Amino acid sequence: MRVAVLGTGIMGAGMARSLLRAGHEVRVWNRTAARARPLAADGATVASSVTDAADGAEVVVTMLFDADSTVEVGRAALAAAPDDATWLQCGTVGVEGARRVADAGGGRVLDAPVLGTRGPAEEGTLVVLLSGPEPLQRKVAPVLEAVGSRTVVAGDKVGSASALKLACNAWVALLTAGTAQSLALAETLGVDPTLFLEAIDGGPVFAPYAKVKGGAMLARDWATSFAVDGVVKDVGLMVEAAAARGFPTELLHAVHELFAEASGLGHGDDDMAAVRTAFP
Ligand SMILES: NC(=O)c1ccc[n+]([C@@H]2O[C@H](COP(=O)([O-])OP(=O)(O)OC[C@H]3O[C@@H](n4cnc5c(N)ncnc54)[C@H](OP(=O)(O)O)[C@@H]3O)[C@@H](O)[C@H]2O)c1
Repeated sequence: MRVAVLGTGIMGAGMARSLLRAGHEVRVWNRTAARARPLAADGATVASSVTDAADGAEVVVTMLFDADSTVEVGRAALAAAPDDATWLQCGTVGVEGARRVADAGGGRVLDAPVLGTRGPAEEGTLVVLLSGPEPLQRKVAPVLEAVGSRTVVAGDKVGSASALKLACNAWVALLTAGTAQSLALAETLGVDPTLFLEAIDGGPVFAPYAKVKGGAMLARDWATSFAVDGVVKDVGLMVEAAAARGFPTELLHAVHELFAEASGLGHGDDDMAAVRTAFP
């Protein structure tokens, strides 16, 4: 298919390469052009504007930081794309953000936030959370096959997938902050923190993610797969959605504060494992 990928950050660049490997014709655009240019070597056409990228596209993928950038770029892309083009919004934009995307997309948009990070984006093994009109879901199937290993359909309403994404990322943020807490607590109490990971390994409370992020924390390796500031943004969206429904926000606030503290310490662009720095 002819696919425009708008936003070639960590996730968008990996998704563009997965689409190219699957044989799709891919045009890419990024606000900071230098971040899109390397994709030419993979076979992408690097466009100098959103309009150029979207011209002739059957599917327009937006993989941008937040709802504001997604709505702005997606709206401009749809204006330039053919009338039957489908807009696949893949960023984490929250529930209110998804409503704004739906308004801007006028029936041509699918909500498709993803689970997985840099590695799965590069490998085409993301888990796509999908919601929106069923005919559009069928149409974009080849694109989803290229970027993901499976798709979880959350219904036919744009926004349901973004709601599910918030629930999933609440878990990811809590697990990462919890791993940092246990490593730091062990250290503070005078125990070798590696023993925490050894103790839970293979048991019912083990999580592979604790090992991955815990290993990075022990090595003080903050090479970014998902940035601290991205987590701050996402947990903020969870707090907003929860508070609007009278849902308890204590735990979300605590997690938000920890990641915000790591960001304040200068780790905003570092990997979320750097939440370890919010503990002694
Ligand atoms: N990384 C992960 O593990 C992961 C996993 C699942 C979902 N997500 C979500 O996927 C989305 C992208 O994340 P990422 O990790 O790829 O982030 P990233 O590397 O920081 O990329 C963000 C992208 O958004 C663009 N952007 C930001 N503000 C913009 C604006 N005002 N106008 C136009 N473009 C703008 C950036 O352009 P510039 O290059 O010009 O700054 C860049 O292309 C986010 O919603 C994130 O929450 C990330």
